[in-house]
Amino acid sequence: MKDFYIAEAARFENQVITSSFVVVSKQAKPKKSGELYLALTLADRTGHMEAKMWDNVADHINCFEQDDFIKVRGLINKFNGRFQLTLHKVRSLQESEVEFDDYLPRTTKDVDALWGTLCEFVAGMQDPHLKALLRAFMADPKIEHAYKTAPAAKSLHHAVIGGLLDHVVSLFWLCDLACRNYPAMIDRDLLLTGAFLHDIGKLHELTFARSFTYTTRGQLLGHMIIELEMLQQKLASLPGFPEEYKTLIEHMIISHHGKYEFGSPKMPMFPEALMLHYLDDLDSKMESMRAHFAREPEAEWTTYNASLERPLLNSRKYLEKLKSGKADAGVTPSPESEGT
Ligand SMILES: [Fe+2]
Ligand SMILES: [Fe+2]
Repeated sequence: MKDFYIAEAARFENQVITSSFVVVSKQAKPKKSGELYLALTLADRTGHMEAKMWDNVADHINCFEQDDFIKVRGLINKFNGRFQLTLHKVRSLQESEVEFDDYLPRTTKDVDALWGTLCEFVAGMQDPHLKALLRAFMADPKIEHAYKTAPAAKSLHHAVIGGLLDHVVSLFWLCDLACRNYPAMIDRDLLLTGAFLHDIGKLHELTFARSFTYTTRGQLLGHMIIELEMLQQKLASLPGFPEEYKTLIEHMIISHHGKYEFGSPKMPMFPEALMLHYLDDLDSKMESMRAHFAREPEAEWTTYNASLERPLLNSRKYLEKLKSGKADAGVTPSPESEGT
């Protein structure tokens, strides 16, 4: 266990702390004088924090790299409304000195309960072929373990341990709601099958033992191609699986990013594929907003959100005063109103 976590920074403002982190990024930049300083992004399971080292940079610059674990001593201070760390000392840590759980963020939800919800959805499916396909994936203990562990993305959304499962369960609920609005057009079982498989390639696309990065295979092929291969392999154990379903599922997989520039070689061309694309996009964007508000709980306007390419207004915060004002007016009569 670490003795300081990034989420507790407010309690340690203007204090010197000693703690350990994983290095998310490391850059050496020139000061006005031309000397170098180090600009780092550090992380633990509770968040990210910028850190700067202004002095003795030459002594530390080569002692650690990105993705390494480091132990630091430094001052917590606030800059532009955000906490950061001014580093005095840094040393790298051996893997044997750290507990990985302290460094990777994980979903706050109960992953076993999420997995249970997924199982219930699949149990409720009507089509025997699609149900058998998803059951074949879920019965594989390696898939279950990886599904409960994988993040849904490297950094854009659900970038936490268990994030993929969290994302897919949320997507199942959205599919369940949205398909009721178009009963004549949407095959619910097919839509759920697409939702279950659309990001399953992330199990192989990303590594998540230390920080979240792409595997070489993931970097070179991307999750959609990996998913086609996983589907192919699984279908080998399901003789008689209809070719038509296979083709539709393959299309849902490769079209779910919706556009060529987002990596899909085909745009969604049938109702379930179109719905999967929009619901996937909706869920990832809503989660990106939620996580940003959680990182900046005091802000009405957040800093720039890189994945959505805009700053965000926390509308709940923005309306807080209005709502509490109204509530007050309702509960406490003003002196003027009492007199009339
Ligand atoms: Fe995807
Ligand atoms: Fe997704």
